[in-house]
Amino acid sequence: MNQPMGRFVSFEGSEGVGKTTQIARLKRRLESLGRTVVTTREPGGTEVAEQIRNLVLDKTMPPMAPDTELLLIYAARAEHVARVIKPALDDGAVVISDRFADASMAYQGFARGIDVGRLKELNQWVLGGFKPDVTVLLDMPVQVGMERARARDTLDRFEQEEIGFFERVRQGYLSLAREDPDRVKIVDANGSVDEVASAIASVVEGVPGLGKEMFGRAFSQSLYCQNLQDNEEACGSCASCHQFEAGTLSDFRLLTLEEGHASIGVEQIRETIEFLTLSHEHGRKKVAMLWPADRMNINAANSLLKTLEEPAGDSLIILVASQPERLPVTIRSRCQVVSIPAPSRTNALAWLSTQGYENADLALAVAGGAPLAAVHFSEDALLASFDAVLGSLVAQVTGQRSMQEVISVWRQVDVESLLDWMVLISEWSILCANGIEQPSIK
Ligand SMILES: Nc1ncnc2c1ncn2[C@@H]1O[C@H](COP(=O)(O)OP(=O)(O)O)[C@@H](O)[C@H]1O
Ligand SMILES: [Mg+2]
Ligand SMILES: [Zn+2]
Repeated sequence: MNQPMGRFVSFEGSEGVGKTTQIARLKRRLESLGRTVVTTREPGGTEVAEQIRNLVLDKTMPPMAPDTELLLIYAARAEHVARVIKPALDDGAVVISDRFADASMAYQGFARGIDVGRLKELNQWVLGGFKPDVTVLLDMPVQVGMERARARDTLDRFEQEEIGFFERVRQGYLSLAREDPDRVKIVDANGSVDEVASAIASVVEGVPGLGKEMFGRAFSQSLYCQNLQDNEEACGSCASCHQFEAGTLSDFRLLTLEEGHASIGVEQIRETIEFLTLSHEHGRKKVAMLWPADRMNINAANSLLKTLEEPAGDSLIILVASQPERLPVTIRSRCQVVSIPAPSRTNALAWLSTQGYENADLALAVAGGAPLAAVHFSEDALLASFDAVLGSLVAQVTGQRSMQEVISVWRQVDVESLLDWMVLISEWSILCANGIEQPSIK
């Protein structure tokens, strides 16, 4: 991973549920973590697509045929994906879109009655398999949302639709969530802005690539919180928490990979050391969090080492690393190590099954017990190819397949995964040979 993984988050829900409000909150939250965030909206997001948006939403226009509206929206979407979303994801940004393809299913499909099967074909034709990593579905009774939207502004063409239409939109969205529970997460939009924001934050933190650094961040926030909760977690509502979440708490700094850089360099460390030695607000710690710390280059590590030997005043340096063994031993020996262990297999399995994953047992085993990585396995169809590799081996051993056939299966897998899996399969074989039970393999 040379830069943070690009991640695509979409917000859905009918009028007035709070999409615009919550997107702004999530953007600030992720930015305070050092992520680059690109927000955009549908229909629209590019000059061409915004023109199409105006056409589609123009209430002075006579009504268009449902297919016309649909094709215009997909034309705008093709433009949006090609010119905005994919390039930003390639740059490692988090892209948050105010609505995406699910909106077409809910509005044009479920509410306007265009055949959902046809819609899916069109979707496949335009987007291939491209879809958000996570979709936040803000859900509340239609009447409440309408009231909010009405208080906000005059209604455009969509918003003038009768209440039954929005009821169908809502039910459509809910059925999309039931169909794809791994991706579409229902969030109750009925609470206060803060309550909804924190529900959204926990959904987003569950997404691989948006989770790991959150531990260090949550810990840092708890160091400043003026109203720690019983479980030692930050309250999320005191003045310090607000500052922290808004990214304006000047005594905290997150040091992470610069765009396009594979490692954290010595200049970044020097700046951080300077930051730590500057005066701080009365009575407050200075905290610098390095993530991923195992990506410091050797000069950076050496430069940090001096500071670790003689830390400045009331300051704390947090190193977040998924492979701490890659840190020089001189650094590790000067740190207090806090391991964040994988949860017990039972808990991890329970969590995975509430997320609707099949084959959770196997995914978890292949992922070395880390549930988020197991999710990644299920989603990337990696698990299926693991299954194929394992199956081919078994078939070879039992004489059902030639080595040639086995090798042709292996050729379809990247070398790194293949090596990992061979090690894993060997471990399992040894354990099995010693009568220790291994995950059920289909
Ligand atoms: N949790 C909330 N409680 C009360 N009012 C809210 C809440 N979230 C948003 N609002 C208000 O409701 C209106 C609609 O919110 P908005 O974010 O524009 O919704 P959407 O983008 O989904 O249409 C705005 O005036 C906003 O300030
Ligand atoms: Mg909005
Ligand atoms: Zn607090």
